Amino acid sequence: MKKVLVTGGCGYIGSHTIVDLINHGFDVVSVDNNINSDIRVMDGIREITGVSVRNYTVDLCDLEKTRRIFANEQFDGIIHFAALKSVGESVFQPLRYFDNNLNSLINILQCAKEFEVENIIFSSSCSVYGNTTALPVTEATPFQAAECPYARTKQMGEHILQDFTHVNKNINAILLRYFNPAGAHKSALIGELPINPATNLVPVITETAIGKREQLTVFGNDYDTRDGSCIRDYIHVMDLANAHTKSLQYLMEHKNESNCEVFNLGIGEGVTVLEAIEAFERVTGTKLNYKIGDRRPGDVGAIYADNKNAAEKLGWNPTRSIDEIMSSAWSWEKYRSEATILQD
Ligand code: NAD
Ligand code: WQD
Repeated sequence: MKKVLVTGGCGYIGSHTIVDLINHGFDVVSVDNNINSDIRVMDGIREITGVSVRNYTVDLCDLEKTRRIFANEQFDGIIHFAALKSVGESVFQPLRYFDNNLNSLINILQCAKEFEVENIIFSSSCSVYGNTTALPVTEATPFQAAECPYARTKQMGEHILQDFTHVNKNINAILLRYFNPAGAHKSALIGELPINPATNLVPVITETAIGKREQLTVFGNDYDTRDGSCIRDYIHVMDLANAHTKSLQYLMEHKNESNCEVFNLGIGEGVTVLEAIEAFERVTGTKLNYKIGDRRPGDVGAIYADNKNAAEKLGWNPTRSIDEIMSSAWSWEKYRSEATILQD
């Protein structure tokens, strides 16, 4: 059994990926200091998979403590999710974002080198493309200026990995650029559980529908799109999770052509904000209270992925549509609102 270190394993994408890894026969160890998560997500993972995953409650910015994890275990691969991810917060706390996201990555790479872990997957983001107008976005689309410090940490993280693998030829890395992850595991036992208030569209929709928020504002209906609202590429979190398993298998089976490869992870289609709301109302039978408001500063009108590279090389085939995103996100929202265990 191959042993994988998942950093940020208590987080949204990390927890769903752990489920997919276990379902594909991997032994998983997590490290997460719960700066943006709750350790009780491990209970949900155990209920789904029957496996208790060990979590080291360690800040990855602490090199000595991180090193002790590697000294205790023998990893075949690392999936590095751990990072701070709020675009808005990063604008006001740039040093905290650079410190956390870059130092944790550097420490992970330092340990990978020292303890000879050959396979590394890094969570990047479509935000590395900045305000691009080239559609669909391919992996070769040039980066524009980062729109916020968070996005800059992802651009810098990619450069760090490229420079690192350039001189450490025995280490193989894959950089995964996620578009808009959304939805939850179909069991509704795990899902997005941020400590900070949600700002992403899908949790804002479900929180409005359940009554935690009074009204949703659609940020602009005067873009040059089919209905005037912004277009994004919403990718179901379980499809996204499976791309990590496939990436590890690809590296472990030595199918990679270079020791640092990049893949876009999106469904390859754009959905407007108004279409997303319509899908939510249709699949859940719940009316949403929303209004049209001003544009949100920094938003691009449209962005969606060209995902052919991941389909062809990794054999990745995302199957879940916006409807499944909405129905699973809604089940999770209802579970979360009813389950007292998740409310402090
Ligand atoms: P998340 O906040 O739910 O999970 C990240 C986890 O990392 C959290 O549990 C947090 O406690 C942990 N963490 C952060 N800093 C740490 C540190 N120094 N030491 C130990 N643990 C630490 O976020 P997510 O949505 O699951 O995102 C996972 C990764 O994917 C991040 O790198 C994020 O930037 C990237 N990403 C997310 C999205 C998205 O929309 N969710 C889109 C593109 C890329
Ligand atoms: C989606 C669409 C909004 C909320 C962000 C990060 C990006 C990546 C993914 C990490 C936009 C509209 C939203 C609301 C709305 N994350 N919207 N009303 O901005 O595409 O991407 O998450 O790497 O870096 O920037 O996602 O979910 O915030 O917005 O109308 O209350 O929904 O304008 O068009 P975004 P989002």
